[in-house]
Amino acid sequence: MNKLIINTSVTKGHISKDIQGQFSEHLGRCIYGGLYVGENSEIPNENGMRKDVVKALRDIQLPVLRWPGGCFADEYHWQDGIGPKETRKKMVNTHWGGVTEDNSFGTHEFFELCKQIGCDTYVNGNVGSGTVREMNEWVEYMTFEGLSPMANLRKENGSEDAFPLKYFAMGNEPWGCGGNMTAEYYAGEYRKYQTYVRQYGKQKVFKIAAGASADDYHWTETLMKNAGKFMDGLSLHYYTVPHDWQHKGSALGFTAEDYTETLKKAMHIDELITRHSAIMDQYDPEKKVALIVDEWGTWYDVEEGTNPGFLYQQNSMRDAMVAALSLNIFNKHCDRVRMANIAQLVNVLQAMILTEGPRMLLTPSYFVFKLFCAHQENELLDSHLLIDGAEAGVAELAAVQESSSIDSEGTVHITLVNPGLKDIQLVTVETNGLHPSHVVGRMLTGAMDDHNTFGDPDQVSDQPFVSFTITTNGLIATLPPCSVVHLAVK
Ligand code: AHR
Repeated sequence: MNKLIINTSVTKGHISKDIQGQFSEHLGRCIYGGLYVGENSEIPNENGMRKDVVKALRDIQLPVLRWPGGCFADEYHWQDGIGPKETRKKMVNTHWGGVTEDNSFGTHEFFELCKQIGCDTYVNGNVGSGTVREMNEWVEYMTFEGLSPMANLRKENGSEDAFPLKYFAMGNEPWGCGGNMTAEYYAGEYRKYQTYVRQYGKQKVFKIAAGASADDYHWTETLMKNAGKFMDGLSLHYYTVPHDWQHKGSALGFTAEDYTETLKKAMHIDELITRHSAIMDQYDPEKKVALIVDEWGTWYDVEEGTNPGFLYQQNSMRDAMVAALSLNIFNKHCDRVRMANIAQLVNVLQAMILTEGPRMLLTPSYFVFKLFCAHQENELLDSHLLIDGAEAGVAELAAVQESSSIDSEGTVHITLVNPGLKDIQLVTVETNGLHPSHVVGRMLTGAMDDHNTFGDPDQVSDQPFVSFTITTNGLIATLPPCSVVHLAVK
């Protein structure tokens, strides 16, 4: 029997809602077809945004959306995406499939989408092929209320009010697609660019420096040392690739060994965050600078028959496990990790939603976010797991994994994961300081490769969880194999 001890009066940090953020890039069918279909589409839409997708995203309380890239961000010139759509300049999306980008989704459309979803905004600026002036003017265009050349242009284009820009990043992956820079060179560029990201509106723009790939600790060290005092956040990118970048493995039709390997690689993010945070602590012991994991998730070989540049992949219970394990890890690191954005929202990589023409389906990963949204803006609780040992075959994974938080009304939220494929796990939960009288549970479970298809869109979805008994000082829960459970304990 596993034991989870939760000290309900000991809090360890605030869980920002933005840990459950998402990423949307001009890549494949994420924006076009996935989120935006245009005002004249037969697919039901409001100002061009798919109504079905927007509703699904509201239902998981999507807190913040990153846009327009990704690698695309460093080739994006924002002035091409404003004004009458017929006259917007077209461009080649060189990174993603070489397709023509018509720029019909631009700044105004992004803020309209976020308004409909009800989420905060995270815009990624262009350092790789842009200029300081271009970036400075974009921020003026978005946020200046008064009379100015850029604010006037925004008004001419239909938006009298400034846009609610919350987060702004300078460049993306400058060590690679964003300009092939060294850490030292980028640190200098960052200092210069951020100087001209002016504070026009009432809301302070939160400035993010482009951070490391996976275990590039030198990058974090260099950025913190040379530019740490000019940033509010530093990013980190880490993808879970089951095999290697040449042969990543497929999204479906994988073995139990592939499953275990994938989950082990996903959990590696715990070590990455710990080590990057330790470096940040040296330069910023007060933890003023947030670690922003603004790209994470699974990356498989593209689905056969689809454009290799579109990064379309199916999404199974294995992806749900990756999402749940990762979100629990982010919660545990909430003192430093204050935003994370899974890649990507619709039709790309580890997506929440897949679309095909007018049809839409919710992926297993979507339901994990639905279970986890109860943690948003809660206080992380001190919790300790004493585990029995994992089942054979998934020995390197913990038998059970969790995070626990308390909301403003005093309800304790526990998200438990049983990553095993065969064994049920019994967990005795001790809620020190709380004698539960009422517990509500929901669960996601299935075989490791269960997934939803357009022919069978409801194979995997969340359901009530009732396999628990309340005790005097907690409860005992029985977790099926390959499951994620959310318990709300009062
Ligand atoms: O998410 C896909 C790509 O992965 C992004 O454009 C880039 O930042 C990363 O390499």
